[in-house]
Amino acid sequence: MKNEKWKMMNGKCLKSQTIEWQLSFAKSLLLCLLLVSFVSAFAQTRKQRRRSTSPPPSTGTVDYARFLHSTKKHQQACNSCHKIPTSNWQKASTFPDTTDYPDHDACVRCHRSQFFKGARPVICTGCHTKVSPRDDARFPFRKSDNPRQFAIEFPHDKHQDVIALLKRQDAFRSAVVLAGNSRPLLAHQADDKNKIYNNCALCHTSRMGALVPPSAGWIDNFVPTVASFKSFPVDHAACFNCHWKSQQPVNTNCGGCHKLAEKPVMPDEVPKRISLKFRHDREQHVAECTTCHINITRAATLRGLKADVPITACTECHNKDGLRQDVNRELEALDKNRDFSCVYCHTSNVGRLDPPPGHYLIAGREPLKRKDLK
Ligand code: HEC
Ligand code: HEC
Ligand code: HEC
Ligand code: HEC
Ligand code: HEC
Ligand code: HEC
Ligand code: HEC
Ligand code: HEC
Ligand code: HEC
Repeated sequence: MKNEKWKMMNGKCLKSQTIEWQLSFAKSLLLCLLLVSFVSAFAQTRKQRRRSTSPPPSTGTVDYARFLHSTKKHQQACNSCHKIPTSNWQKASTFPDTTDYPDHDACVRCHRSQFFKGARPVICTGCHTKVSPRDDARFPFRKSDNPRQFAIEFPHDKHQDVIALLKRQDAFRSAVVLAGNSRPLLAHQADDKNKIYNNCALCHTSRMGALVPPSAGWIDNFVPTVASFKSFPVDHAACFNCHWKSQQPVNTNCGGCHKLAEKPVMPDEVPKRISLKFRHDREQHVAECTTCHINITRAATLRGLKADVPITACTECHNKDGLRQDVNRELEALDKNRDFSCVYCHTSNVGRLDPPPGHYLIAGREPLKRKDLK
């Protein structure tokens, strides 16, 4: 009986669809079905109100407000749902990009029952700020408060030569232009006065904007300056000038760069650091990146990748005869007081631990542990 009603209403919709031929099939079908479902949901609530003794309809445990890529049936070719570019990319980007959610037709064939369920289908709230058959307002694509379902794949090692080549050809500027990108981040890099070391700056510039304090607060109440940190790529501007149509992973091959994470994670607000007090922007600290990041050019993956800066990158200035003696000084303070916390380079969460053997080595001493001290 209910089925028949649906069929009938569907038939009507299809007829009107041929008249309103300028509307796409999917859109008008959806609109009709939505109106039908709103009307029938309304009727249902009225019916239910009259027979208030009947049990509430059973609610499943599936949360249709949050889309998961890990769900088996969702593991299809990325571009079966994501279009690149999306039709409205100009609104959000300076180059053709995927800036919006997949359209309804990516979902309806499997989720007909969720799309037409009740007056306020929960599934709509995964993308729309307001659920209504007329309002198309949506959240920004990639909700910032959702944990990230993917991790980025970027082999630093494979990019060394290409990026060096880019530097030699002075194609850096043209790459910026190619990406159609004129945001301050890249404009700043293209500035002649700013040296571009190893072109690492194509992806890592000085961080800008305000730092969001970690939820647990700043350790020791030490608030680092924002320019202490280097930034990370946040969108496709850093990749698509090369990975467009011919160089794999090409722009439709989302999965070549985005790998499903074991479980969704919230990105760190402030990068995790061993030496939180180190400032990249201090004049004396500005040097070829690889003098400190000695292993990065061999890194084949980002998994487990750390900044990996050995203390020997600091000793030439911070622990040298006739110059500053910051490491020696703190080791000596520790000799006198085994509870001493080393806070010249570190905050106390690191500075109160045992110094690693390397710290003693650069001071020409045998490694010690706090418990061995008086
Ligand atoms: C069945 C449809 C579907 C398929 C297939 C699909 N996606 Fe998505 N994707 C979505 C939807 C819907 C969202 C929005 C979810 C949200 O923001 O909560 C999304 C969001 C994303 C995001 C941003 C959110 C985040 O967690 O970072 C990325 C990145 C992404 N998809 C990459 C991919 C990749 C890579 C593939 C292929 C391996 C893929 N998608 C396949 C539907 C799909
Ligand atoms: C090939 C069929 C298929 C397609 C296409 C599909 N889904 Fe699903 N979806 C499923 C199945 C199967 C489940 C598991 C729960 C169920 O049976 O409804 C599911 C579950 C969900 C859930 C619950 C949370 C989760 O991820 O497990 C949401 C939300 C969802 N889908 C949204 C969407 C959206 C939005 C689209 C379109 C962008 C979409 N789905 C496309 C088959 C599909
Ligand atoms: C996977 C994300 C997603 C889900 C889930 C979703 N929408 Fe949309 N919706 C979109 C996108 C993207 C557009 C823009 C389509 C376009 O302009 O090509 C859109 C457009 C619309 C429009 C404008 C008319 C049209 O069809 O273009 C309405 C109305 C709308 N959605 C309502 C809903 C309702 C109601 C639901 C739940 C039943 C829903 N949407 C579920 C992504 C979604
Ligand atoms: C084309 C872009 C690109 C270039 C060029 C590039 N990187 Fe990266 N780098 C990345 C991405 C992407 C990540 C991972 C970011 C993330 O985890 O969110 C990363 C991560 C890092 C990290 C790890 C930081 C941490 O603590 O997780 C360091 C250090 C780093 N890069 C240094 C460099 C240096 C030095 C160079 C130049 C030799 C360089 N990168 C060139 C894209 C790039
Ligand atoms: C004088 C040494 C030194 C130089 C030169 C240097 N770095 Fe760093 N870098 C560090 C240290 C120290 C850290 C923090 C490591 C830690 O404490 O875990 C770091 C961290 C990073 C991070 C992680 C984000 C952050 O700021 O914590 C990135 C990315 C990075 N450096 C990129 C670069 C790039 C790109 C260059 C060249 C433009 C560069 N670094 C030059 C010492 C250096
Ligand atoms: C200067 C041009 C250039 C830029 C910018 C660039 N790439 Fe690449 N990328 C290449 C080239 C060329 C290769 C192939 C290198 C090789 O195979 O030795 C490559 C290889 C890769 C691979 C490995 C593919 C495979 O089959 O193993 C991944 C993943 C990748 N790039 C991701 C990225 C990401 C993510 C970004 C942006 C953060 C990026 N690339 C930016 C030129 C670039
Ligand atoms: C060549 C590598 C590469 C390819 C191909 C690629 N991405 Fe990305 N994507 C990245 C990198 C790098 C970032 C920035 C790091 C991050 O935020 O995770 C990013 C960021 C994103 C974001 C967040 C951007 C924002 O403005 O918030 C979304 C959404 C996304 N990608 C979806 C996709 C989809 C969908 C596809 C396929 C149509 C795709 N990506 C293809 C490398 C790639
Ligand atoms: C000049 C700056 C500097 C000073 C002073 C300094 N350190 Fe470090 N420390 C570093 C650097 C750089 C690293 C990372 C490389 C390494 O592990 O050697 C590090 C690493 C560490 C680590 C390892 C953290 C980890 O997670 O791997 C501990 C613990 C530590 N230091 C404790 C101390 C203690 C205790 C002192 C005082 C005696 C001290 N440091 C003085 C720069 C410094
Ligand atoms: C080329 C010399 C040089 C190198 C290499 C160097 N520094 Fe410095 N650093 C300085 C100078 C000069 C100062 C300013 C000292 C002062 O006047 O108090 C300084 C200051 C600092 C400070 C105090 C905070 C600030 O910026 O005012 C920290 C912390 C620090 N350096 C950490 C490090 C670490 C960690 C390394 C190794 C990864 C390192 N530095 C490598 C020259 C250097």
